[in-house]
Amino acid sequence: MDIIIVLDFGGQYAHLITRRIRDLGVYAEIYPYDVDLEKIKRIKPKAIIFSGGPGSVYEENSPKVSKQFLEYTIENRIPVLGICYGHHLIMQLQGGKIKLKAKKEYGRTNILILEPNLIFDSLEKEEIVWMSHGDQITELAAGFKVYAITETCPIAAYGNQNKLLFGVQFHPEVSNTPKGNIIIENFIYKIADCKKEWELEGWIDKTIEKIKKDIGPNNKVILGLSGGVDSSVVAVLLHKAIGDRLHSIFVNNGLLRKNEEIEVQETFKSKLRFKNFHYVDAEDLFLKRLKDIEDPEEKRRIIGHTFIEVFENKTVELGKANPDIKFLAQGTIYPDRVETSVTSKASAKIKSHHNLTLPDNMMLEIIEPLKDLYKDEVRRIGMRLGIPDEIVARHPFPGPGLAVRIIGPINKEKLEILREADGILIEEIKKAGIYENLWQAFCVFLPLKTVGIMGDYRTYEYICSIRIVESTDAMTANFAKLDMDLLEKMSTRIINEVKGINRVVYDISNKPPSTIEYE
Ligand code: XMP
Repeated sequence: MDIIIVLDFGGQYAHLITRRIRDLGVYAEIYPYDVDLEKIKRIKPKAIIFSGGPGSVYEENSPKVSKQFLEYTIENRIPVLGICYGHHLIMQLQGGKIKLKAKKEYGRTNILILEPNLIFDSLEKEEIVWMSHGDQITELAAGFKVYAITETCPIAAYGNQNKLLFGVQFHPEVSNTPKGNIIIENFIYKIADCKKEWELEGWIDKTIEKIKKDIGPNNKVILGLSGGVDSSVVAVLLHKAIGDRLHSIFVNNGLLRKNEEIEVQETFKSKLRFKNFHYVDAEDLFLKRLKDIEDPEEKRRIIGHTFIEVFENKTVELGKANPDIKFLAQGTIYPDRVETSVTSKASAKIKSHHNLTLPDNMMLEIIEPLKDLYKDEVRRIGMRLGIPDEIVARHPFPGPGLAVRIIGPINKEKLEILREADGILIEEIKKAGIYENLWQAFCVFLPLKTVGIMGDYRTYEYICSIRIVESTDAMTANFAKLDMDLLEKMSTRIINEVKGINRVVYDISNKPPSTIEYE
């Protein structure tokens, strides 16, 4: 299969470039900029993209590739496209000059395309693009042509058809460059001559066959099933491949959303007919260990460790009755295991039964069927596998659950209040038909009491904050500008129906500088 490599120079969009290429039908992977050239040679990519990055090529310690890198691509006729920082780097390595510009160019700009070329094939003479840079090329190396200019940037794109080196100062991968996809498509199909081979339908069949082969006819598999998208998709793939030889463990940590433990059991046990679905109620243990804990990172640590312990105990118990359990399946996805220079909190977080310490006679081999996929690919596969929408389209939910949505120490009473409020919020969002347009919508429990009035009585109760954000990857997010009537309805219902809350506030902070979660 054709592969495109995206070299990451620290830009926040490296994963986005990779996803765009895959959406267009070619498999792509990210590597750090200092990856060993020998590794690249072994992969034999059809093309390479240099991502953007915050550095300046003339700074001493800025990320670079060796001169041999481009010698290798030129010699082997492997096209390279540089984006922003990558655009400067190719030019510097080829002998051009780059300077700091007096004024940083940021935002939407018009480019003027100077001469017909494959990169801009089928575009208009003038197009809108997204710029974000402080440096620009002032002198082109020999053999290169200027492909496009902007009012303030005399070399906004260049190319050298003989060496197959190309650069664009702007970001074709972001949606603010409306024709960006055509530019990437031109590069991967018209210049790099890739075949359109990355499609998810074939992936499902191939993966099920591979799972069958890897596991063999008799062995059994254990899986931690949280009811989130990733572990659910792994569960259904495995179930299709090996049926009831799959043992799933679902741990109720007492930090789940309203009815979540009931819904997950219904889906897997009743609807999908999983026979070996093991429900472990560990609520008391988790709440006991979390008692009086204030610090968010300490909460996360305790939850992570306790989960591993509970999961281990159940695994050992099942292992005794089923000595042929030989594999541990995990819902690891591509961003979880590929470190980019900009690591989001989401990707750094615990998905870790990695640290299981099992008895010596129970050595489990790890299988990670989703390890090459992005979240949106996992979702699409989930839909094709017929997993109910309630699971596939569900908003992301942090591993530590409601514990990081209650500021300060948690207890059963606060959890109950938060669950009720959150349930109402989600119900109203779904009724309004906007659930699927939002990245996340949830309530946060603020342990502050304020005065209110209910009928003839003065009240003194807690505050509930509503957090609703729009985002595409959680790296940045904007608060949703919801209809005031809808907000009013949610607030009225929460205050009337949830005992313990007499005030609701709407969070109007964007990320950055705020984060999505509160802890
Ligand atoms: P922040 O709060 O950093 O969140 O803007 C970004 C995304 O990551 C999720 N998140 C977590 N996921 N364990 C997880 O599995 C965690 O500890 C955790 N903290 C934040 C958050 O819900 C959002 O989608």
